[in-house]
Amino acid sequence: MKITKAIIPAAGLGTRVLPASKAIPKEMLPIVDKPAIQYIVEEAVAAGITDILIITNRGKGAIEDHFDHSIELENMLEFKNKDKQLEEITSVCNLANIYFLRQKETKGLGDAVLRAKQFVGNESFAVLYGDDVIIGETPAISELCEVHEKYDKSVVGIKQVPDEKIVKYCSLKVEKLENNTFTVTDMIEKPSIYNKLSNYSVLGRCILKPEIFDILENTPLGVGNELQLTDAMKTVATNGDMLGVVFSGERHDMGNKFGFLKANIDVGLTHPETKDELMAYIRELAKEL
Ligand code: UTP
Repeated sequence: MKITKAIIPAAGLGTRVLPASKAIPKEMLPIVDKPAIQYIVEEAVAAGITDILIITNRGKGAIEDHFDHSIELENMLEFKNKDKQLEEITSVCNLANIYFLRQKETKGLGDAVLRAKQFVGNESFAVLYGDDVIIGETPAISELCEVHEKYDKSVVGIKQVPDEKIVKYCSLKVEKLENNTFTVTDMIEKPSIYNKLSNYSVLGRCILKPEIFDILENTPLGVGNELQLTDAMKTVATNGDMLGVVFSGERHDMGNKFGFLKANIDVGLTHPETKDELMAYIRELAKEL
């Protein structure tokens, strides 16, 4: 069945990008001229998703403001005939039906997803992590949706990561199914280098079936005393109901300082307003490195 609903968990504390994220949600950190979460919403919309629930918490009001009208600003831009900017800021309000829900305690990604139970109802849905921006020709979530529609199973977006990262992410046991699609038979959150299952990890995107809510409700707290989505997805995987897709785009982790810098350089090198100047600057800089 076609996926029309998505959840964007954006209630994390963002401790890895402090102090930038003290008063600004990390999901609002910009990549050139748009906040990270706008790229994520645009990816979902490009994949045909019409209803998006963003999970927030205290101090994340800027996210709600970003997807709302700013009447004063719009009136001023109209008065000054700044049509392009007016179009840019008003179109953000009409991207999709966007809803907000607060996760009252930061109890983990699994808990954030569980908050969406009423919104989702009885259909499969997409999860796009609020700090993972994926840039590519095809929206990453579309690549997952396609596999979900073909096999009617849960699907996670995967890639291989180096050893130093796998210990901070989750590690997957996989078997190749076809092309870029794998069967995921087991997973573990934040493994040690000795008990990792492989270097494949879930990177910011999944399609889940509504059964995940019952599983989450019966999953004990895991690493960090948080309700881990990985622990619930492990149940799905060991039941033989999970696939992984190596998505084609480039993933930028806005939750860490280097990821944020790299995203800005990569996008800056393709953005019409910055690419020439940035390229010249990098070339100049490289001479001294
Ligand atoms: P992360 O683990 O990367 O977010 O979660 P974090 O807790 O902000 O990370 P630290 O503090 O830098 O280590 C992935 C996504 O899940 C959301 C985050 O906002 C992020 O987009 N999340 C995480 C929630 O919505 N609720 C939570 O309780 C935890």
